[in-house]
Amino acid sequence: MTAFIEIHNVSKRYGSMTVLDGLSLSIKANEFMVFLGPSGCGKSTLLRMIAGLESVDEGTISINGERIDTLPPGQRDIAMVFQSYALYPHMTVSDNMAFGLRNINVAADVIAARVAEAARMLEIGHLLERKPGQLSGGQRQRVAIGRAIVKEPKAFLFDEPLSNLDAALRVRTRVELAQLRNRVKSTMIFVTHDQIEAMTLADRIVVMNNRKIEQIGSPMEIYSRPASRFVATFVGSPTMNFLDVGLSEQNGFVSARLPDGTELRTTIRAAGVKGTAHSLGIRAEAVKLASGVPATTTGKVDVLERLGDRTLLYTRLKDGSTVVAEDIGNSRVAIGDEVGLSLDGTRTHLFDAEGSAWHNEEPGHG
Ligand SMILES: Nc1ncnc2c1ncn2[C@@H]1O[C@H](COP(=O)(O)OP(=O)(O)OP(=O)(O)O)[C@@H](O)[C@H]1O
Ligand SMILES: [Mg+2]
Repeated sequence: MTAFIEIHNVSKRYGSMTVLDGLSLSIKANEFMVFLGPSGCGKSTLLRMIAGLESVDEGTISINGERIDTLPPGQRDIAMVFQSYALYPHMTVSDNMAFGLRNINVAADVIAARVAEAARMLEIGHLLERKPGQLSGGQRQRVAIGRAIVKEPKAFLFDEPLSNLDAALRVRTRVELAQLRNRVKSTMIFVTHDQIEAMTLADRIVVMNNRKIEQIGSPMEIYSRPASRFVATFVGSPTMNFLDVGLSEQNGFVSARLPDGTELRTTIRAAGVKGTAHSLGIRAEAVKLASGVPATTTGKVDVLERLGDRTLLYTRLKDGSTVVAEDIGNSRVAIGDEVGLSLDGTRTHLFDAEGSAWHNEEPGHG
């Protein structure tokens, strides 16, 4: 079973505080949608409104064209997996998964078949007779997901299901979830504040901030063409470099004067650009150590961050503005060095003080 979900002009208030303000969003059937945003931006609240655990103050939510925000949670045909998986400690894994179905009087043979199928998909068949206390965190999380799968819901809602796991397990479970997603054809909404989880799992990401949706797009759209400076800052690690720039036009494209006086030609079309107080965004991967190529400018290295496959150089331009650049893993650069930096003007973004953004001509380039 699967479903498309429409959220129309939804608002939520707690007392006098508005936590969601007129959000609209369509989720396609079988889509893996991720709600991404900083703590407190309202991700869980929106998810809980879809599940029916929070009331909707304004607007509507519908599934397959039918309004559900007026239905009690039990009638929405949605399964939710929480951060704390809340398994029944005295029941076996098998009984934990079957419990919800027994409660609604599903036939025993149907329950057995669904539990077996979920156990196979999640590779927990060998754990079915154990109690939750005899499982690792990752195994418990899989049981919690299994409990949702056996319901065969129209949609799955996940609220930070990986955040209780340690770093290594988190990465492994993330990969498992991505694989599971290919086996279970269903609409899934996944809440996280972890941008790597969002990038690796999502068909599309909804970036939320400050009661609103900032951008909806595929992971690479969000990464390559962030709709606002907030999105550009929130997605990508290290965070995008921003430099205050003055603008001029060269053959129809923006040329940016960096704070140290350097002119950087971009492939951003000058025609549409307006606004004031522009900043140029460029990711570290588009700022290379200039060895063998002409340097755009020079910077003094304050900090070296060795990541193994590459090295991040935290540099300071002559005027004092900071730029993070990238060098090879086995970088020879030392702290205090004056290095040439090559900035790729075809991989730049422009932001103004009013919250607009303009991007380079070639899609797909960060
Ligand atoms: N029951 C409540 N009463 C009052 N305020 C609430 C309630 N639940 C949530 N809030 C507030 O609503 C806002 C959104 O909360 P929500 O839990 O949706 O955030 P979130 O994006 O899921 O954050 P996190 O990443 O920390 O889980 C927060 O400012 C929070 O303090
Ligand atoms: Mg939350």
